[in-house]
Amino acid sequence: MTRELPRGKDPGSPFVMFKKKKRVLNEDIPEIVRSSGLRHIAYIMDGNGRWATSRSLPRELGHSAGAKNFKEIVRYSKNIGVRYVTVYAFSTENWKRPQREVSAIMKLLDQYIDEASLEDEIEFLFIGDRENVDPRIAERLTSLEKLTAGRSFRLNIAFNYGGRDEIVHAVNKAISAGCTEISEKIISSNVYTCDCPDPDLIIRTGAEYRISNFLMWQSAYSELYFSEKMWPEFKPQDVDSAVIEFSKRKRRFGGV
Ligand code: FPP
Repeated sequence: MTRELPRGKDPGSPFVMFKKKKRVLNEDIPEIVRSSGLRHIAYIMDGNGRWATSRSLPRELGHSAGAKNFKEIVRYSKNIGVRYVTVYAFSTENWKRPQREVSAIMKLLDQYIDEASLEDEIEFLFIGDRENVDPRIAERLTSLEKLTAGRSFRLNIAFNYGGRDEIVHAVNKAISAGCTEISEKIISSNVYTCDCPDPDLIIRTGAEYRISNFLMWQSAYSELYFSEKMWPEFKPQDVDSAVIEFSKRKRRFGGV
């Protein structure tokens, strides 16, 4: 795990001291994850655009940096013992963005599917409305899911996803299956993530303090953690901080 952290070259530099301190901290993190019952982290990867514009770069480069960071953070979350990760990659509202930016995100997703098929421990699930997606991409998502089914770590990628849309979809699915009375149990068993526990922790980067239609049903009792950092700057050390904060929270699930 310490391999994930930046390496300093000068043994006397303060950076190396920082690294040593983090290494000790890191060694505790898997146990903190285990003992705090942290199984599922969901990430709202916000701030790619602002990260890029603050560097006078086009927004598309912010998404490229965001995609690179996404891979690092997913790998790190898996390494510390989290069993499920969900990321918000593209919302049902994101189609409103300039065509150039939408195309850049689609291209990153397309490239990622190629890389993802080489992963050997990740089971992929794409959550969201697949009917209104380019059929070529939709077909690739389905193939990747089939190829990776049953693997030990689950990565849910929310793509063309909206939380309200998901609830409507779940209700309609239940009705189509002959259901005549909706209950919480029926909705829970028809949302896209029906085979995962609800997220224990939702982390949002980018100094915005809202849920933005993400996992509306599943987040009822999730702990929320907000980071001022833009997504491309959110690093494994920041995941550690969120995990430690999570372990201090008292989860009562409506009880006392
Ligand atoms: C929010 O930042 C981010 C998105 C809408 C897209 C997230 C996409 C990626 C991280 C890359 C592609 C992902 C995969 C799975 C390959 P923003 O653009 O809203 O940032 P801003 O608030 O600063 O404008």
